[in-house]
Amino acid sequence: MPLVLTAAAIGGVPLLALLLLVLVGAASPLPSLAAMVAIAAMAVLLAALLGRRIARLLDLVSGAHGHDSESGLGRRPSLLSLAAEVESLSRRARVQTAEIARLRQAEFAVLNQLPTPLLVLDQVGALLRTNVIAQAAFGGDIPAILRQPALRSTVSRALAGSGVHSAELTLSAPVVRELHASVVVLTPPLAGGGQLLILLSDRTRERAVERMRADFVANASHELRTPLASLIGFIETLRGPAANDAAAQARFLAIMDEQAARMKRLIDNLLNLSRIELSEHQAPQGEVELAELVPRVIAGFEPAFATRGQRLELSLEPALPSVLGDADQLAQVLQNLIDNAVRHGRHGGVIHLSAGTAESDPRWPAGRGIVVAVADDGPGIPRQHLPRLTERFYRVDRGRSSHAGTGLGLAIIKHIVNRHRGRLLIESTEGTGAIFSIWLPLV
Ligand SMILES: Nc1ncnc2c1ncn2[C@@H]1O[C@H](COP(=O)(O)OP(=O)(O)OP(=O)(O)O)[C@@H](O)[C@H]1O
Ligand SMILES: [Mg+2]
Repeated sequence: MPLVLTAAAIGGVPLLALLLLVLVGAASPLPSLAAMVAIAAMAVLLAALLGRRIARLLDLVSGAHGHDSESGLGRRPSLLSLAAEVESLSRRARVQTAEIARLRQAEFAVLNQLPTPLLVLDQVGALLRTNVIAQAAFGGDIPAILRQPALRSTVSRALAGSGVHSAELTLSAPVVRELHASVVVLTPPLAGGGQLLILLSDRTRERAVERMRADFVANASHELRTPLASLIGFIETLRGPAANDAAAQARFLAIMDEQAARMKRLIDNLLNLSRIELSEHQAPQGEVELAELVPRVIAGFEPAFATRGQRLELSLEPALPSVLGDADQLAQVLQNLIDNAVRHGRHGGVIHLSAGTAESDPRWPAGRGIVVAVADDGPGIPRQHLPRLTERFYRVDRGRSSHAGTGLGLAIIKHIVNRHRGRLLIESTEGTGAIFSIWLPLV
């Protein structure tokens, strides 16, 4: 039926016009009849051809639409149904375009918000994009990172193959930083053409900790080996050349006693330090009355003050509030500070110990606290040593090693103060003495 209608639409007007001409005698009937037959045949042929083309188009549109081709063929091929199909196809295309835009945005948002610094490169290794945290961490250094030969060769290798590759990088300016870069090949690539992902992590701190640990082991064994070697030497001498020399024996035994005591102090301090480190993440819960603790610690130093001819001046603020802390550890801090003032301070000098409410001062943390300070009038500490004093085994004057301390006293203080969420401040002017101040939070 649609074929007849289409053929009528094509051939109807010329047929009627010819018929009219024959009827009014303007055309001879026989040739007109032949022309009419030819026109009707052409119309049917064209209608059939058109129908086939429309059916084919419908088929294609239905296929693109996701309908099965059966249903497209089964439908009557008309211009109306073709228009309906095209319209629904364009509606679907609009929805899909919006969906693709949304997915691209989501992809961008995921990369941008990942907490790892990352760089996106295209298929020739050029930088396409960085995320927020990469900008914050490396910002202007990103071009320098990408120029690093180790990273460039890793990128080339990654572009030639697939999988994950990595490189260790060192940035020298503005400060030395050690980075680890993982290069990931993206298959398929990201919507914007991203072919490689470089994930950066700053390993500077980790490496410094590794080095410190190695240094620590080396230092600890060295510090113990020296007195041990001296003990072994003296034992050999006592057995051999000094076997019958009572005076030498007494002298050597006194030195051996000193060396053994030093080894014991070293081991005690090291054990103490690791115990403190283990609990450093847990802030102490107790309340400590410094007004009671300070005089108790000072009393233990009376013989030392007498030996060195030193005098202690104490200024405690009246009605000192309690601090949040561990009494034994705070006693240890005071002991180490007074011990330093006695041993490193001046013979016959004055040691000043004060404790009072902290003034508001940018050097101290925010919040209410107490400042305990131990000051001496000894030789002081050269400026360049100040930042390193709290390192383990660090001593300003290494020359006087046999009578020197272990170099662990201030490291212990630093860890205790950290555990108390406090702050340690060391100030010194060479020639006039040193002041060690500790801020501690109030209960
Ligand atoms: N009051 C001070 N005056 C001058 N120098 C000091 C003073 N306190 C510490 N120092 C210097 O700081 C170094 C480190 O002090 P620290 O208390 O850590 O170790 P130590 O006193 O040598 O040994 P330890 O305390 O373990 O027996 C000391 O060796 C000394 O050179
Ligand atoms: Mg000390």
